[in-house]
Amino acid sequence: MNRLLFLLLTLTAFGYADASPSALMNNVPNRTTISLDGAWQAIIDPYETGLKARFYLNSKPKDKQELIEYDFDKSDVLQVPGDWNSQKKELFFYEGPVWYKRSFSYHKREHTRVFVYFGAANYFTRVYLNGQALGEHEGGFTPFNFEVTDQIREGDNFVVAEVNNARRRDGVPSVNTDWWNYGGLTRDVTLVEVAETFIQDYVVQLAKGSSSEISGWVQLSGPASAQQVTVEIPEAKIKQTITTDAAGRAEFRFPAKLELWSPDHPRLYDVVLSSGVDKVHDAIGFRTIETRGTQILLNGKPVFLRGISLHEEAPVRGGRAFSHEDAETLLGWARELGCNFVRLTHYPHNENMTRLADRMGIMVWSEIPVYWDIDWENPATLQNAENQLRDMIARDHNRASVVLWSLSNETPVKPERVTFLRQLAASARQRDPTRLITSALNHVDEAGPDVRLLNDPVGEFLDVLGLNEYLGWYWGRPEDADRMQWKTAWDKPLIMSEFGAENPYGRHGEGDERWTEEYQASLYQHQITMLKKIPSLAGLSPWVLMDFHSPRRLLPGIQDYYNRKGLVSNHGEHKQAFYVLQKFYREMEAAK
Ligand code: GCU
Repeated sequence: MNRLLFLLLTLTAFGYADASPSALMNNVPNRTTISLDGAWQAIIDPYETGLKARFYLNSKPKDKQELIEYDFDKSDVLQVPGDWNSQKKELFFYEGPVWYKRSFSYHKREHTRVFVYFGAANYFTRVYLNGQALGEHEGGFTPFNFEVTDQIREGDNFVVAEVNNARRRDGVPSVNTDWWNYGGLTRDVTLVEVAETFIQDYVVQLAKGSSSEISGWVQLSGPASAQQVTVEIPEAKIKQTITTDAAGRAEFRFPAKLELWSPDHPRLYDVVLSSGVDKVHDAIGFRTIETRGTQILLNGKPVFLRGISLHEEAPVRGGRAFSHEDAETLLGWARELGCNFVRLTHYPHNENMTRLADRMGIMVWSEIPVYWDIDWENPATLQNAENQLRDMIARDHNRASVVLWSLSNETPVKPERVTFLRQLAASARQRDPTRLITSALNHVDEAGPDVRLLNDPVGEFLDVLGLNEYLGWYWGRPEDADRMQWKTAWDKPLIMSEFGAENPYGRHGEGDERWTEEYQASLYQHQITMLKKIPSLAGLSPWVLMDFHSPRRLLPGIQDYYNRKGLVSNHGEHKQAFYVLQKFYREMEAAK
């Protein structure tokens, strides 16, 4: 036996299967699913003993002599979905591996394939079923799935997941972030049952630049790859039949007379795709999004993005948000603020958010966590970012609300970073030519005493420029904004993607006293005076909707591991600045 084969067998025997996940299936919420959410046994494993001790076998001593130094059934319990940091005080700061185990009973059915689907797990995950390694996944905020048709048994089964949130220099993000490193099975875990040949993925959207033509594709998975697929939109009296090729793929383009999706009219259609024995329904909105000079056009008309940035932090409860109720609270506050737009930072949020945004008519900026400085020259880091971009787009490429794919946030201006981001921009356009590409930049040049010029080389290959400026908080005084002018080196739309000030709810003082509600309100007032004078401004997403946990925010009695730039406290209390921004948005809406 050659050495490589021996090594591979040995690694597999120790659960090192490095198999990548199966191709991501789309639209899981509308498929036949069995939830594995709920109580999972959990072993906290700070010295990473589990792999060598083969926890994934879930063994019990076969007699009174056998030495087994773990027992899932007598270990901790963690709720899934959910980060571990907010479930157990002793895990608040924990960074390392946790081994999860869930036993379940399953009834096998003929001609049915089965996948185990993870909405997300932060950060590095190895998955096993009935003691067999399925594979591993890197990235804390995008879905992944493994086929288990051959490994799942009639009757009793157990799934084991090792989730490790240790930060990695070559990771995406890297080791330094201004958000809490919540670890664990942070989103739903689901068994998905599909036909032997099923509709794995599809795009049904308006063709770029057209409001009367649908273009898209469908991808089947399974042995009967070449077959007829029907795309129906009954309310629009559309029924088109196409034939997939030997690889199971077919592209299509056909005329369509549709009511267009918009914030004022978030029209969704029931779209039905059927092939042979498979049929999936999806709720899809149809709209166009493009730029013309410094304007963003929604359905051909200029639109101003009245937005707010927000982290995926659970209101009141704390920890990672994941539920439909969390999404309703967060997007409800955005709507109360007068928003038609949200910047979901700094990573793809859970699918409840984008599907609810579709229904509410709120446009979305969706972002991969290429955040601050990362390992720009490492090919594995680029591949990791590409994978996260691929899966962010694959999950949401039928969501009308998503109008912007963001490649990064506040990255340093150096040649290797431009090369890295240029590559990501090309991949994003190739995967989805219909949405706009952006990034939040933060390097500007002084072009005069009160003039700042954005000419970051990355701007060259973005459709929309994002700019994070903290005038009045990290530099200058709030009143300096009254005189400040902003220019960019391109004839492209500008979104002021971050500004803000920090203060705990209920802390009051003079308007010039930092860390008070009055200071934050005053800063927003001065910012609004400045923003009104920027001709290329097409939107804003101030920092931030709600206070959120951060390991970098240490000021006792004021921050206490919270970044307090929220317009709303983590208990849902609205600060004075909330109403300053709300007034601005309401006036803008009224003047439309
Ligand atoms: C940065 C960064 C945010 C951070 C914020 C702040 O711009 O994008 O992630 O939380 O500023 O300093 O509060």
